[in-house]
Amino acid sequence: MTTNASIKIDDKEISLPIMVGSEGEKAVDARNLRKDTGYIFYDQGYGNTGSCESSVTYLDGENGVLRHRGYPIDQLAEHSDFIETAYLVIYGELPNEKKRKEFGALLRTNAVIETQMQRIFEGFPKDAPPMAMLSSIANSLAAYYPELATNNFEKDLQNFDLAAAMAISKIRTIGAMIYRHSKGLPFVHPKDLPFCDNFLHMMFSEPYQDYVVIPEVAKALNLLLLMHADHEQNCSTSTVRMVGSSGANLFTSISAGINALSGPLHGGANAAVMHMLQSIHDEGDDGTRFIAAAKSGTKGNRLMGFGHAVYRNFDPRAKVIGAACDVVLKKLGKSDPLLDIAKNLEQAALKDDYFVSRKLYPNVDFYSGIIFRALGIPTSMFTVMFAIGRAPGWIANWREVASNAKGRIYRPRQIYVGPTQRDYVPISKRA
Ligand code: CMC
Repeated sequence: MTTNASIKIDDKEISLPIMVGSEGEKAVDARNLRKDTGYIFYDQGYGNTGSCESSVTYLDGENGVLRHRGYPIDQLAEHSDFIETAYLVIYGELPNEKKRKEFGALLRTNAVIETQMQRIFEGFPKDAPPMAMLSSIANSLAAYYPELATNNFEKDLQNFDLAAAMAISKIRTIGAMIYRHSKGLPFVHPKDLPFCDNFLHMMFSEPYQDYVVIPEVAKALNLLLLMHADHEQNCSTSTVRMVGSSGANLFTSISAGINALSGPLHGGANAAVMHMLQSIHDEGDDGTRFIAAAKSGTKGNRLMGFGHAVYRNFDPRAKVIGAACDVVLKKLGKSDPLLDIAKNLEQAALKDDYFVSRKLYPNVDFYSGIIFRALGIPTSMFTVMFAIGRAPGWIANWREVASNAKGRIYRPRQIYVGPTQRDYVPISKRA
């Protein structure tokens, strides 16, 4: 196997080391290229750039493979639950019974949002975008628990277990509180319940009547959160790593990740899918208009829930969630006309040469909204649900950055295409 790659620039032959990952992924190590030659590699959007070594998640987009710490996503979906998978993603191994119990206890004892912090909510209008609220309030954890958020890796890593448990548990609580705030309902405090049951309790309990958790609902929620637990170097996770690489604490880095997730091309797609399906339903269309518009090539008209930056075959998460849709709806005794529309749209797109030739398939967001909706979670909260699910992945990636003694601050280069040097013109002489 070659250990070096060579490129020729200006008749000079440059040798660059080759790196190989544990699954055989290959990279040319270009870290010294600029120092040695003055050249950089140009890769807009970093689609072909490895920004780090990571042992959290392996993803093979060509073959639809997704594994967390070596465990295939379909096995985790079948046998694990969100909290066990979160532990695996963060700590690298499946927990034994003792560790699982300790982790659960740490999450339960750190679920509450203290009274003083609750006042932040009052400053937000009822119709504030939930993701804007979530990122602000998640960042305020750094203000309320400064001893866990010192912006000093060594100190922050000493308190990592507590900070990680707080991030997972409190972001879930904040999510439920954002929903209550938007509805003008009083907050419901967490109880000594399993993670997903507690979320449902905080979302849906009535003033004098606690929500009775339906096991099928809690199970479906567990599955959805688990399916979002991590996804390699996606936009929000790379953002968390980038912010973290400056030495920023876990909460602040996660808050940045939440902002990155809010965009419609990333986590915001799950809500956009529902809006699209609802419009098709309301207009009595069969999806033809959306498919035709999506083929125009403009970003604003894309078929939401379709395509992926790395999957070129199928998104294994979409397979699991798509299959779960029918099962969950049946178990809950519900039917949803949007599910039929989604299925028809998928079939139509998969027969269309535009989508086939570009290898565009349904992604995780295409069917997840149908299940969230069946669980009673409104569309405005879908991306918040994604964030609650993705917290473990952000935490694991922040920890890798913070633990890497040789890591440097993330600082890409650019190709400057602006004006060349020119002299300052006083305002009176400007056109
Ligand atoms: N509808 C129509 N055309 C599309 C779509 C789509 N959903 N996605 C990609 N294309 C086109 C794209 O315009 C390009 O066309 P051309 O070759 O003619 O220029 C071609 O397909 C290849 O695009 P790509 O390089 O595969 O896409 P990308 O890496 O730039 O973008 C994406 C990936 C996920 C942002 C994009 O597929 C998209 O915008 N999808 C809709 C939004 C969405 O569902 N996002 C959720 C992603 S999964 C959850 C998550 O991780 O956030």
